[in-house]
Order: sequence, then structure tokens, then C-alpha cells
Amino acid sequence: MTSSGRRGFLKGGLAALGGGALLASAGKSVMAGKASDIRIEDWNRDLGGAVIDNPYGVPSEFESHVVRRNVEWLTVTQESSVSFTPLHELDGFITPNGLCFERHHGGVAEVDPAAHRLMINGLVDKPLVFTMEDLKRFPRVNRFAFLECAANSGMEWRGAQLNGCQFTHGMVHCVQYTGVPLKLLLEEAGLKGNAKWLMPEGADSAGMNRSVPIEKALEDCIVAYKMNGEALRPEQGYPLRLVVPGWEGNMWVKWLRRIEVGDKPWHTREETSKYTDLMEDGSSRRFTWIMDAKSVVTNPSPQSPLTAKGHNILSGLAWSGRGKVTRVDVTLDGGKNWHRAELSGPVLDKCLTRFYLPFEWNGDPLLIQSRAIDETGYIQPTKDELRKVRGLNSIYHNNGIQTWHVQSSGEAENVEIS
Ligand code: MTE
Ligand code: CO
Repeated sequence: MTSSGRRGFLKGGLAALGGGALLASAGKSVMAGKASDIRIEDWNRDLGGAVIDNPYGVPSEFESHVVRRNVEWLTVTQESSVSFTPLHELDGFITPNGLCFERHHGGVAEVDPAAHRLMINGLVDKPLVFTMEDLKRFPRVNRFAFLECAANSGMEWRGAQLNGCQFTHGMVHCVQYTGVPLKLLLEEAGLKGNAKWLMPEGADSAGMNRSVPIEKALEDCIVAYKMNGEALRPEQGYPLRLVVPGWEGNMWVKWLRRIEVGDKPWHTREETSKYTDLMEDGSSRRFTWIMDAKSVVTNPSPQSPLTAKGHNILSGLAWSGRGKVTRVDVTLDGGKNWHRAELSGPVLDKCLTRFYLPFEWNGDPLLIQSRAIDETGYIQPTKDELRKVRGLNSIYHNNGIQTWHVQSSGEAENVEIS
């Protein structure tokens, strides 16, 4: 269905929304099954597998549907492409390493850490080259951070398109990084007085590079070698990546091999042709690095329909590149009534934040939305509010409010309401 078709359909559908969804009162019971349903299964009788059957553990075979997915028509090749995090299958705020979305411009580089070097050159007192072992002798920090691609939700600018939060919002992940504060490495090299910009560069075939202002580098950037406690995955830049908390994903250079220090931004081809937001009048917004507050209801959603009437738990994720999420409001009736969701901690700076809203479902259609508010007071805008300011040409930085239409069958669809 086209977006305008969907919109038209919803105008009619809205009238049928009869306030059927009421907030649950605490302690509502969930329907239980019968004792006769319980059977003795093989796994109750037979000896199980040995301890080392899986030297590196993998999820249960019954979870094999919980995987990254791609949208094949989106890119010409699968090397310069993107896969999406299955947000609707996850809980809490950590993304398991094997499920973090991937975005590569030149495929996944297979880097041997013993041969890998990080060079710092340009406007420094002494250019330096570090081995991985050198880097591990520097003081290290651990911090959680979300990474969101600037193109996340980009396909939704002109109207509701992809049917599932994995595809509309899945270019985001949140892990704990371990690494060296970039500040320490820059101090080791000694910054010259006119050092204002960094150009981190990757060792992949794309040789991806970006311009990063020195203030951000000194504030909280990390040269990371671990994620969630173990080595970075090859897809995430093994053995070394830049972490730029709260800022758009393209600056988080993977397979990091060099940081050049300069006095002005590099205006690379990538930066001038991409990652700028093309406005209606033909001008463009450049250097929109900070990811604004955003949220999405992950369950129910098109890939995660409602399966039972009565007591249900709505769940979702909210995040802000400007700090902590302080509040998430949820509506079940297309914005007539808003309810404050429970933030289920920890609620951390520049991290995904889990929220829940228990509700009673009587089988009537729902129009579900969530709205994030961060500690700066910024309120996540509607898609139409964004379009008023930015027009229809943009791809990047779409943090508009997402709507799911849940039908009486429990199935959900990506729609827009105005
Ligand atoms: N770094 C290199 N070297 N090459 C790349 O293609 N892609 C960038 C960034 N760093 C990229 C890169 C983009 S656009 C994003 S959104 C993030 O990496 C994605 O990080 P992830 O693959 O760990 O999710
Ligand atoms: Co990106």
C-alpha cells in the first residue's frame, strides 16, 4: 500500500477506534494453561550435550529467526550495504554482538591484529605509530554508547514504507566499549596550537574517513578494541574502531588505522555528497553530527503482533545523542491520550533506554506511538513537524515519531497519521 493509501485508509479507520485500550491496573493476572497440556519430552529423559559441544556458545536453535536482516533492493551490492538489528526480538538496552547492525562501504576488512597499526600524524609534535599491544598498555575506560547510522529511518522520509521496526529503526545498536580515551593518544603525540580537526581513516577497501572536531575528540571519544567484554567483531571494525558517543555512526571509523590532525575539516567526497540533509530550497544542512532524541515501540510492531487480548506489555527503546532520556510518552489511540512509560534502568548517557507500558487490550484497533524527551528538554518531533522544517528531500536524521496500526487480528502495520 502506498503511504497516501495508508493514510486514507487510516482516516476511515480512526473513527472505529473506540478507546478500547485501557491502561492496566497493577497486578492484573495473565491467562494460565491447563496441567493436561504438559507432556514429558525427550529432553526430560535423554542425557544432554557435553560442555564443550559449542566452544563458542551460540543461541538455541529455536531462536534461529533472531538475526540481522537486510533489504536487498536497497543497495546495488551487498558489500556496500547495511543489515538491520532485530530490535523487536531484544530486551533490555544491550545489543548482543552478533546482532549489531552492520554498515560497510567496502565490505568487511579481515585485519590481522598483529600486523595492524594506528598512526597519528599531521599537526602533532611527534607522529606516532601504535601496535595493538601498545594501545593495551594505555589507561583504559569502559562506557556504554548507542551508535545510530545517520540514515536510520531514512526510507521513511516520504511516507510509511518498511514493515517492521527492524527495518525502520534497526540501524542502531548499543554496547559497552573498552578502549583508550583518544585524548590520551593525542596528548602522547602532542597537539600543535592550530590543531582543530581530526581525520580518522579506516583500513578497509573504502579507506573511509571523516572530519571530527578536536573538541569532541578530547571530550569523550574512545579508540576501542572491545565490545561487550570481548574483541570487536570483524563487522564492527576488528581490531580497532573509533567511538564518538551520541554522534552519527559514519564518524565511528572502523578498522581504524590513522588519525591525521589538521587545522580545518577535510571536506571529503563522502562528506560533501553524503551525510548532509538536502533542504527543499536546494541548500543543505552540513555537520549535523549529534543524533537527536528518538524512540520506537518495538513490541507490538509489524514483526511482533499482539497474540492475546487482555493484559499485554508494550515495550520499546528511546535514545538521545545529547544525554539521558528523561521520559517517554506512549499513545495507543493515535495521540488522543498519552501515558508515561516506565523507564527500565539503567538509564545511561547517550545510550539506548528500555521502556515499558502495561496495557489491557480488548481487541479494538490501536494506533501506537512513542515520544522521547531528553535531559535538554528536547521533545521528539512528529514526522510532519520534521518535514515542515526540512522538506522531503532528506534521507538522513529522521527522528520523527513512528506509528504502528494494530488491527483487531493483532497484526501491526507501519502507517502515518496526520
Ligand atoms: N568505517 C569504515 N572504515 N568503513 C565504513 O564503511 N561505515 C560507517 C561507520 N564506520 C564505515 C565505517 C557507517 S556509515 C556507520 S553507520 C557505522 O560505521 C556502522 O557501524 P557498525 O557496522 O558497527 O554498525
Ligand atoms: Co552510517
